[in-house]
Amino acid sequence: MTDLRADGAAALEWAARYLERVSGLPVLAQVKPGEIRARLPAAPPEEPEPFEDVLRDLDELLMPGITHWQHPRYFAYFAATSSEPAILAELLAATLNSVAILWRTAPASTELEALVLEWVAQLLGLPGGWHGHIEDSASTSTLAALTAARESTGREFVVCSEQAHSSVDKAARMLGMSLRKVSCDGEFRMRPDELGDLTDAAAVVATVGTTATTSVDPVPAIADACETAGAWLHVDAAYAGSAMVCPEHRWAFQGVDRADSLVVNAHKWMLTPNDCSLLWSRRPEDLRRAFSLVPEVLRTPEAEDALSLSEYGPALGRRFRSLKLWAVLRCHGRAGLQDHVRRGVELAAMFEGWVAEAPGWELCAPRPFSVVCFRMRGEDERNRRLLKRVNACGEIFISHTVLNGRYVLRLAVGQMRTTEEDVRAAWEVLKREALEL
Ligand SMILES: Cc1ncc(COP(=O)(O)O)c(C=O)c1O
Repeated sequence: MTDLRADGAAALEWAARYLERVSGLPVLAQVKPGEIRARLPAAPPEEPEPFEDVLRDLDELLMPGITHWQHPRYFAYFAATSSEPAILAELLAATLNSVAILWRTAPASTELEALVLEWVAQLLGLPGGWHGHIEDSASTSTLAALTAARESTGREFVVCSEQAHSSVDKAARMLGMSLRKVSCDGEFRMRPDELGDLTDAAAVVATVGTTATTSVDPVPAIADACETAGAWLHVDAAYAGSAMVCPEHRWAFQGVDRADSLVVNAHKWMLTPNDCSLLWSRRPEDLRRAFSLVPEVLRTPEAEDALSLSEYGPALGRRFRSLKLWAVLRCHGRAGLQDHVRRGVELAAMFEGWVAEAPGWELCAPRPFSVVCFRMRGEDERNRRLLKRVNACGEIFISHTVLNGRYVLRLAVGQMRTTEEDVRAAWEVLKREALEL
């Protein structure tokens, strides 16, 4: 049995205490596959159990299996933050359980979603009037965009760079479309002179902030080629899009105003917890043609005037995701979002400087935003062993990539709680473990 007030207070206290103590926990879960499952009962309880038992087992059984994304020394993949206003809004959204299958089932959710997408468009300097909605992930956003591109062009192949995210490959595979990869220049940006003949291309996916190095494809030249060939331009700015809240990073969005669709993950660098992927399009009618399917049971008298966002993407039942983003935008404001991005970029630049000056280490790619690609000079195997040692110690968590056939380490700053001391600690751990190899 659950008492919402008493158990709710305990859960909130748990959340607040967790955020206070998370920096003292090992960042990467120090368990083996299957270990957590083995601690849990194989069958569900027959009788109701008190919520306090759930909270107790979260601590005792599950916590060892948590990799702490909220840890200030989380530097792997793209570090992300679930900030306090969004944590609270998630509770409220679950309380309301608005399910936006149609406008009438969730008018506030639907209209707030459209509004917050307009707000974020303003914050990022995007053109006015684009249609925007929220998908669960950039993978789904890109799938939706490519579905619309095929609908719009009647063509069957997709073009992206060899540095594009695997979600483009996955979307093409799911849609049965073929994919051609364009090579990159020395700084991991798509080479527009290698785009070739696009007359059969449904879409070109350009990336602003690639996953490995955060490189920025030359969107204006790619937009020219798309325009000439009548191909759809989809821009994947899943990570770096949030940085456009700062005018000094807007150079990276040059030409994005010519995109047919754009994805930015608020759940990456915009202080919003998973899942919250923002998809805009200046061709909403193509999305609607691709996805609108309204069976008799879902027909409503107001259908003509009201916007049902389920007609613009794969899902019918849609969560009230805009509530948490609204809370983030209101409680951090433009200034808070800018501070967050700037601090991340500054800390990454600091780390980059230390690597650049250290004998025996090298930088492996330019650093436009808050991700540093680096390695120990010498064999890949030593770098591989270093990564393993560093992550096993639990003090920091970083990840890797492969660039030009070489094994490369990646340090991604993006956690709101990360300070200079944390980045300094990461560098000390790396140097210490390198000596132990
Ligand atoms: C550039 C880029 N696009 C797409 C994705 C996929 O994001 P999601 O996990 O929201 O599907 C990522 C993930 O890191 C990414 O870096």
